Amino acid sequence: MANRNLKVIILAAGKGTRMKSELPKVLFQVAGKPMVDYVIDTAESLDPEEIVVIIGSGAELLRNHLKNRNVSFVVQAEQLGTGHAVMQAEECFSDFDGKILILCGDMPLVKKDTIEKFIAKSTDQKVSFISVKVKDPKGYGRVLRSANGSLISIKEEKDASETEKKLDEINTGIYLVDAKILKERLKDISNENAQKEYYLTDIVKKGAEIYLADDETEFIGINDRKALSEASKNIYKEINNSLMLNGVTIIDPSFTYIGGDVKIAKDVTIYPNTYISGKTVIGSDTIIYPGCRIIDSIIEEDCEIKDNSLIENSFVGARSSVGPMAHLRPESRLMGENKIGNFVETKKITFGIGSKASHLTYLGDAEIGSNVNVGCGTITCNYDGISKHKTVIGDDVFVGSDVQFVAPIKIGNGALIAAGSTITKDVPEDSLAITRADQKNIEGFVKKWKEKKLKSKNGEK
Ligand code: UD1
Ligand code: CA
Repeated sequence: MANRNLKVIILAAGKGTRMKSELPKVLFQVAGKPMVDYVIDTAESLDPEEIVVIIGSGAELLRNHLKNRNVSFVVQAEQLGTGHAVMQAEECFSDFDGKILILCGDMPLVKKDTIEKFIAKSTDQKVSFISVKVKDPKGYGRVLRSANGSLISIKEEKDASETEKKLDEINTGIYLVDAKILKERLKDISNENAQKEYYLTDIVKKGAEIYLADDETEFIGINDRKALSEASKNIYKEINNSLMLNGVTIIDPSFTYIGGDVKIAKDVTIYPNTYISGKTVIGSDTIIYPGCRIIDSIIEEDCEIKDNSLIENSFVGARSSVGPMAHLRPESRLMGENKIGNFVETKKITFGIGSKASHLTYLGDAEIGSNVNVGCGTITCNYDGISKHKTVIGDDVFVGSDVQFVAPIKIGNGALIAAGSTITKDVPEDSLAITRADQKNIEGFVKKWKEKKLKSKNGEK
């Protein structure tokens, strides 16, 4: 049941000039996830009546990115400031009796708990906002208080005097305002300031309650790529800390990058320079060696993912070993107890229990049974230049080294494929298939050949 007293407005229309990019700022990824998604997740967790996202710069990209989320859009065609942005949404709250929570799309680290506490503390106030004391206030709006501690105003960096710039309490840009009061106060906003913008901060001029938060790391406003990397670092650190406290060994957390939606069981060990993202799940006792990247994949228990392997949208069954330097492309399904070794690439395959491809192999568009041994240098030739075709290999097949399967092709259970064969016809069960030319030995050839070469080099006939 939605909270009928609350609507959320998320400001996400700004150009993000300081990012120096074509991409709208709020779509930049923080720890592997676009920053606006964090803010929407937080808004959703409050279960409000409506979430309104103000879009402008890169509006179509944002609309498309958010098309499956339960939000409404308001377009701010010209970005004339944060106050102007909220004015565009007036229709959404002019007849509304409850509270409006205003969040910024460029502040992804704010915790749900903090917002909940802020709302609980502010329900009896008409206008409140969150402030926080920071080590480096540069770039933020400063909170000016009178001697008795009550609010005078918020001063933007560009309008602040040298003394005001020294103040370390900043405006986080998070407000809770009575819908009716918001409508009135928006009328007071002018653009008479250094940036000629309509500042939302003007809504506090006629008085507001300040909620002083305590952890400045939550309130990084991401304006440039330095702040972007700092925010990512903070999130990764937090995720790693929580994983370690839940029984995951992370050899060096400052060089380990795990996304917020990844699930990792206890007694997993993760070496440095590893990126694990998306909806990845990793089972207990699995070891991820250095330099691996794992995206949207399931790795079951007791696996070893060896150095520098890339696994995308795949399934690795229990007790398997992958890598070093292996590439599981999307829809690779290793059913368990498998070995995928050095320089092996797979794509859209099922690989039955206990099957192995230990070296230098490409397996694509294939259904491979259990206990199959795929020799070094095997290739499924799945593409004829126009369409893709399937290779089907039964159980207990032994594939010698350097074999090409020209798909579509079927190999029966228990077959033996001789090394160096190019297989173009189906192979029945338990049969040997061999396509290479017979070997011929010419005795004494090398000696005679060398003598002839030497003579011709010395000009003799
Ligand atoms: C704003 C606040 C500042 C506060 C800081 C916290 C104002 C005037 N200043 O400054 O007091 O300390 O946030 O991070 O509000 N946006 C629009 N339309 C616009 C302009 C901005 O939607 O016309 C959006 C941006 O996309 C962004 C958010 O509003 O998500 C904040 O805008 P930004 O320009 O980053 O404001 P700051 O200068 O950081
Ligand atoms: Ca900002």
